[in-house]
Amino acid sequence: MANYRAGILGTGHSYPEGILTNADLERIVETSDEWITTRTGIKQRRKASPGEYTSLFAVRAARQAIERARLDPSDLDLLLCATVTPDQILPSTGCLIQAELGANKAAAMDVVAACSGFLYGVTLANTMIQTGQSRYALVVGAEILTQYVDYTDRQTCVLFGDGAGAAVLGRVEPERGILATRIRSDGRYEEQLFSPGGGTRRPPSSETLAAGDHFFKMRGNELFKVAVRSMAEVSREVLEEASLRPEDIDLFIPHQANQRITDAVAAKLDVDISRVYSNIAMHGNTSSASIPIALDECVEAGRVKEGNVVLMASFGGGVTWGGVLVKW
Ligand SMILES: CC(C)(COP(=O)(O)OP(=O)(O)OC[C@H]1O[C@@H](n2cnc3c(N)ncnc32)[C@H](O)[C@@H]1OP(=O)(O)O)[C@@H](O)C(=O)NCCC(=O)NCCS
Repeated sequence: MANYRAGILGTGHSYPEGILTNADLERIVETSDEWITTRTGIKQRRKASPGEYTSLFAVRAARQAIERARLDPSDLDLLLCATVTPDQILPSTGCLIQAELGANKAAAMDVVAACSGFLYGVTLANTMIQTGQSRYALVVGAEILTQYVDYTDRQTCVLFGDGAGAAVLGRVEPERGILATRIRSDGRYEEQLFSPGGGTRRPPSSETLAAGDHFFKMRGNELFKVAVRSMAEVSREVLEEASLRPEDIDLFIPHQANQRITDAVAAKLDVDISRVYSNIAMHGNTSSASIPIALDECVEAGRVKEGNVVLMASFGGGVTWGGVLVKW
């Protein structure tokens, strides 16, 4: 069995022009900029306009990542789209992106792991490249969460935003690239973050629509604790697997769910906040798009340099969580 080293060759991101600020939300639900800022760190989030859909942003992010990897879409042999807000049920958003890009040699599918979807995708692509099954893989995380948010539920509607981020993976020299990956889930916590209606268990009907069963429901308090615990745990696991310590991390990119979650995880890991990236103020929580958007912002800003050790950790509905450690 082949044993190649996989790495990230190019990144990209894209999001809607529409902005929903805390002041806008003050006019929609009983909330305040002060509450949202102190409890979450969020100041604004991107919001798709009517007629904008998930793959639109995914394709833009993907094109940027492919170009920066100096490849052509036809070089890809694997395309994974991480999303919980697909364009439609069938076919997968991955296939729609594959067609739009002209990635005519790529197998395409969706990865449904909520906010951990991107790291799940990177983990799968990494294994496909390591084993020689795949040469170039695109992993894109893309969401239009604002369509599944109940704008009468002040606990959830302030958190989520829209966007897409992408990474192209391929073979790299053995001294760099992906050092360790770990993905996990626990479906017993299903009801901490879920949308109960619209599937085969509760098929879409005028009743489910009227009851808002397709919207996200969340037990924020419980989720908060599990998020901190599992992101810290999985981070330690990937560090241990790579025989590294928290002080070896040059850049920590956690899933952007809540600034307080980020701060708590960083404190648990003993990683100084100067080495932790946060864009929560500008984007809110974009689920599977959050880490790849943040990663590409870091690349563009020159915050990640050759030889840097980058830790990414996520947590999301399912519940799912994961960690990926990369030497850039
Ligand atoms: C949702 C979250 C921000 C709430 O913060 P919190 O500090 O736990 O706040 P609580 O839920 O304890 O609510 C405290 C009070 O604020 C109120 N509140 C909730 N949302 C509010 C809002 N947007 N504006 C004003 N008040 C709000 C609550 O009703 C509650 O009022 P009460 O004390 O009168 O009952 C926080 O729990 C969280 O971020 N959880 C994780 C969510 C998450 O990341 N989900 C995605 C996972 S990927």
